[in-house]
Parts: sequence; structure tokens; C-alpha cells
Amino acid sequence: MSLSTPSRSTLCRAVSCAAVALMPLLFGGWLNWLTGPQSTIDVAGPVARSQRDIFYVTVWVTGVIFVLVAGALAYATLRFRARTSDDEHAPPPPQNHGNPLVELSLITASVLSLVIIAVPTLKGIWFDYQVPAAEKQNALEITATGYQWWFKFEYPKEQIDGVGPLVTANELVIPAGRAVSIQLRTVDVIHSFWVPKLAGKVDMIPNRGNHLWLKADKPGYFWGQCAEYCGEDHAVMRFRVIALSEKDYAAWLTREKGPAREVKSDGSAPKAAPAGYTFKDPGPNAAGYTAAFDADPLAAWFKQQKPDASEDPALIARGRQLFQDKTCIGCHTVRGQEGVGVSGPDLTHIGSRTTIAAGLLENNAFNLHRWLVDPDGVKPGNKMWTTGYNDSATGKANFRVNDEEARALVAYLHSLK
Ligand code: CUA
Repeated sequence: MSLSTPSRSTLCRAVSCAAVALMPLLFGGWLNWLTGPQSTIDVAGPVARSQRDIFYVTVWVTGVIFVLVAGALAYATLRFRARTSDDEHAPPPPQNHGNPLVELSLITASVLSLVIIAVPTLKGIWFDYQVPAAEKQNALEITATGYQWWFKFEYPKEQIDGVGPLVTANELVIPAGRAVSIQLRTVDVIHSFWVPKLAGKVDMIPNRGNHLWLKADKPGYFWGQCAEYCGEDHAVMRFRVIALSEKDYAAWLTREKGPAREVKSDGSAPKAAPAGYTFKDPGPNAAGYTAAFDADPLAAWFKQQKPDASEDPALIARGRQLFQDKTCIGCHTVRGQEGVGVSGPDLTHIGSRTTIAAGLLENNAFNLHRWLVDPDGVKPGNKMWTTGYNDSATGKANFRVNDEEARALVAYLHSLK
């Protein structure tokens, strides 16, 4: 026996041991990553499930091909490698070609692999394209419109007298267990609608009516994301889908179709030191969510539906006045009150949403304050900053919101449940 044999097997053993030792590290991290809030593997609805299953079929087929090809390559490389100096200078072995058995087998295997992938893919395309006939009658209809850089959601079947369809922004509330048919539109550039755990992604293209459908298996809180590069704030153009039980959905719908909540002031002065938070600008890229929120966002959503116990009616009245004075009313609607603008997100029930700045920040008093005093620091280049706070023609400031004004505006906006 040559001396090289034991050293070779020792090397092989060392490599195998290292690979086995790395497994938990590799797959531990991998599995954790696979179950995150934007996972397409840990899905929560039939459309995303069908998309995931097609992915699995493709992975298995390509995985088998990889193992066969890489195995043959590894075997040939090791088995027929040059062992001696003579081997290195030996003439190449006799070449052959045109073996009908090998060629036919390879053609058959290729065609078979493609068919195995094509059948579920075509079925999936068919299934994902529109709501199944049996569920069409009962489906919820939504029109989602992309704006730089936020999402508007309309409920065309939910008409409000003298106003039009129910409109909301950045948080799409749906009934769990029911199909939702979504028309996709854009007012400016191409965006893309994607809720990784439920469905997607389909582009929102100017002058073209795309659509998709989705369904949540059960109540839950889902992350959405624009998935097509659409300018400066593309990466932070996010949204949420909140799936509720039929009962909770009906209650939400009744509240949402109503006008903005009004808090009457008794005419007294705002409290000297408003309780709740102390503001210090955390600077760019500071975290937008608290750990408590991330631990159970659906519970946070339910909590957000209720008025804040510590609200100050006088401060809210001051905020409502500022909402007019600072010209916020020109771009934002507050149904039942002064706001009539439609170029920015509808704020009728902003106080009951869990997020602001298109899903970038949790909607708490501190974050809303942060957004109001320095929107450009939170989301550089956003339209409220470039065309509201600044005059886009001159680049000069139209207005700014100081600390005291921001507190009043936060109190007002949070009263809009
Ligand atoms: Cu909108 Cu990317």
C-alpha cells in the first residue's frame, strides 16, 4: 500500500467533518432567514403557496441534475486524474462520438425535466391569473395605485355618499379567508405590488391595467414592498396588508367609511407639558419600529384602533388649525373636516394606522413628530418635502414645523381614528 492512501483518506475525513460541523451554522441561519416577515417560503395564502410550490419543483429538478452532473464530473476528475509523471505526458485516450443510446437518453432526460417543470408552472400561471370561478362572486375588489413613493388603496364597491369610493393609504385591510381581486394602477412611473407571504409580484404600469389576486388563510399582519425600481425612495416604498376575521373586518369597514373622528375642545389652553414622549431627532436611518411592535404587529393594530386615553382636546384643536395654516389640507384629505387634497395619502383615519411614511416608521407619537419636523431626514427626496416643505421652483422653504407645532399636529393626526 502506498503512503499516499492514508493521507488522502485523512484529508477526506477532515473535509467531511468540517462540512458536517458547518451544517447547523449554515442551515440554522438559512432557516431563520426563510421565515422572516417577507418570506416567500413561509407563506400564508394559496397564491403565494402555488408560487412557492413551483419554486420547489424547479429546485428539485435542477438539484437532481446538479448532483448527477457534478457527481459525474467529480468521479471523472478523481478517478482519471494523473497520478504519475507518465500519466501527465500520456497521449489522450481514444475519442468517440455519435453514441445513439447516450444521445437519445440525454434528449429524453432533458425533455422530461422541462415537462416536469412546465406542467406545474402552466397550472400555476393559470391559477394565479385570476380569482377561481367558485370564489369570484364573494371576492373583495380593490384598486391599488402606486405613487412615488406610497400606495393608495380604493374599495370601489364601498361607496360613500357624496364622496366616492372608500380610500385609504399604505395599509390594505382585507377579510381573511376571502379572495381579494386587486386592480393595479400607477399615477407616475412603474411600481410593482408584492406581498411576499400572500402573492406577487405584478408591475403597476402607466396606461396598462394589470391585476392580481390574493387570499390570506387566516387573520394576520403582512409586509408588502414595491418590487420595481421607481426612483429615490423605491427601497422604502412599503405597505402592509392586515387580514381580519369577517367580524373584525365588518367593524373596521363601518369605522373606516365614517368621517374622521372629531375631538371637541372646551376652549382651554393646551397643557403646558404634553405627556407621552420627549423628542430628540435620532438622525437618518434610525430604527423605525419598536421591539414590542415587531413582536405582535396585529395586536398593535388592534390597539391602534382605540383613541389615546391621554389625549389633550386643546392641543388637538391647535393641531387642526395648524393643519390648515401649514397648507397640509392642499394635499391630504381628512374626510368630514378641512382636508381636501388628493395628491398625498388620505389621512381620514391616519390615527388608526400602524405605520407612517409608507411603512417606513411605526405610527407612534415620537415617529410622527420625527417625520413632521424633518421628512427629508427620514425619507430623502419624498414629495411632501420637495413640493410641500420646499417650493419646487425656487428650492426655498415654503414652511417648516417647529417642535411645539409638531406636538400639536401629532395630537391632531393621532385623534383621527
Ligand atoms: Cu415604487 Cu419601487
